[in-house]
Amino acid sequence: MAGGFVAFSGDSPAFQAKMTVYVFICVVIAAFAGLIFGYDIGISGGVTAMDDFLMKFFPAVYERKKQAHEDNYCKYDNQFLQLFTSSLYLAALVASFFASATSSKLGRKPTMQLASIFFLIGVGLASGAVNMYMLIMGRILLGFGVGFGNQAVPLFLSEIAPAKLRGGLNIVFQLMITIGILIASAVNYFTSSIHPYGWRLALGGAGIPALFLLFGSLLICETPTSLIERNKFEQGKATLKKIRGVEDVDEEYKSLVQACEFARQVKDPYRRLMKRESRPPLVIGLSLQMFQQFTGINAVMFYAPVLFQTVGFGNDAALLSAVITGSVNVVSTLVGIYLVDRTGRRFLLLQGAGQMLICQLVIGIILAKDLGVTGTLGKPEAIVVVVFVCIYVMGFAWSWGPLGWLIPSETFPLETRTQGYALAVSCNMFFTFVIAQAFLSMLCWMKAAIFFFFSGWIVKMGLFALFYVPETKGVSIDDTRDNVWTQHWYWKRFMLRGA
Ligand code: BGC
Repeated sequence: MAGGFVAFSGDSPAFQAKMTVYVFICVVIAAFAGLIFGYDIGISGGVTAMDDFLMKFFPAVYERKKQAHEDNYCKYDNQFLQLFTSSLYLAALVASFFASATSSKLGRKPTMQLASIFFLIGVGLASGAVNMYMLIMGRILLGFGVGFGNQAVPLFLSEIAPAKLRGGLNIVFQLMITIGILIASAVNYFTSSIHPYGWRLALGGAGIPALFLLFGSLLICETPTSLIERNKFEQGKATLKKIRGVEDVDEEYKSLVQACEFARQVKDPYRRLMKRESRPPLVIGLSLQMFQQFTGINAVMFYAPVLFQTVGFGNDAALLSAVITGSVNVVSTLVGIYLVDRTGRRFLLLQGAGQMLICQLVIGIILAKDLGVTGTLGKPEAIVVVVFVCIYVMGFAWSWGPLGWLIPSETFPLETRTQGYALAVSCNMFFTFVIAQAFLSMLCWMKAAIFFFFSGWIVKMGLFALFYVPETKGVSIDDTRDNVWTQHWYWKRFMLRGA
């Protein structure tokens, strides 16, 4: 799960709280899981473009790449190569269900520690791999790390953050993901010239933040909500005082106890999620996650170097272009943090969709017209492609990227919030897996038309946002029924009958 936060009842901004140094340290340490996730997203494209790596594990792809001019679009089409990238997301999808159990039974902190152990073993196996099975095994364990980390960390962050800062912190997690992606592209760029072990260094790089998370997590606390949930009332109250930096936490404490008791009464939250009145947040949460992946963003994030080579750049220029798109991603996410509570969610979703649509169409037209199956793109056209990829990434980074996570975290009612959110997360992982597994084959099969394929999806998601996504800016998350759903032209019918 990328950057999302599950906000809890009892988050009234009226509660006494300071932003303490301790909370700051906890946030930084925990958000490292986001950075590792981003690093894994960004590193695979660079590594799969490295000749030493291909020669060792994918000799057939290497041979095809040498004859690149025979078919630009198909040189990387190989199911195993795609499995190298995608296996991580499949593992993360499975792991997130286990992680949701460990984070409620054992707590958020041990779940994060488990994540860092998975990360470390995964990094060891992948970077030391002597055959493909070891390599894929390493990616699967990294996926377990992602599943555990991304389930526990957002919960952890939202529970320790003072209420007023919760929204901004939400996108900070996404920001860490984008920083991870950027670092990975820079590492790809530098390690690609180290022969023959550059790829080992690139894959091993994730070990540094994983160690940081492992040792750092010894310093952080368990969240008050998790302690109270597990009947450790005294400890819960003491922790609350420590993280809020004030003595008088009675009101927040009482409200946490109440919220936990209420949630406990709902014996089967998954069943409740299937009821009619849960339909609006469920449909919106799952759709936003699916659409987020069908913007085609990960075709760029995973395979940017490969994509840039396809349009005729040399190895280095392709890797460098990935660094440029990575930087655009980070800076534009900052713009998103600034805009989200000013312009509102709907404006950004619609504006972002429009911007991404134009870019996909321009890229598709240039490739269809000028690249052809064999030749190469002229320098000016190749530069135009890179520029439009950057504008496209910009559009994603301030809209569907962070909002795909933010909106599901603020629309489920408390009693189904963690479960609803877990489903949204696995939906994201599933479609991330689908894109990672299918993109290179689709590129080979559809050629430039792949960009029109994504354009079609962007039109659909724009219409979905226009008609079905309500504005949730400034709405109290515990009052969405009255303030959002019963006011909406379509969703109100689910409230009236289901009430
Ligand atoms: C998405 C990831 C994507 C990243 C790019 C996230 O919101 O979930 O799949 O790679 O944004 O910045």
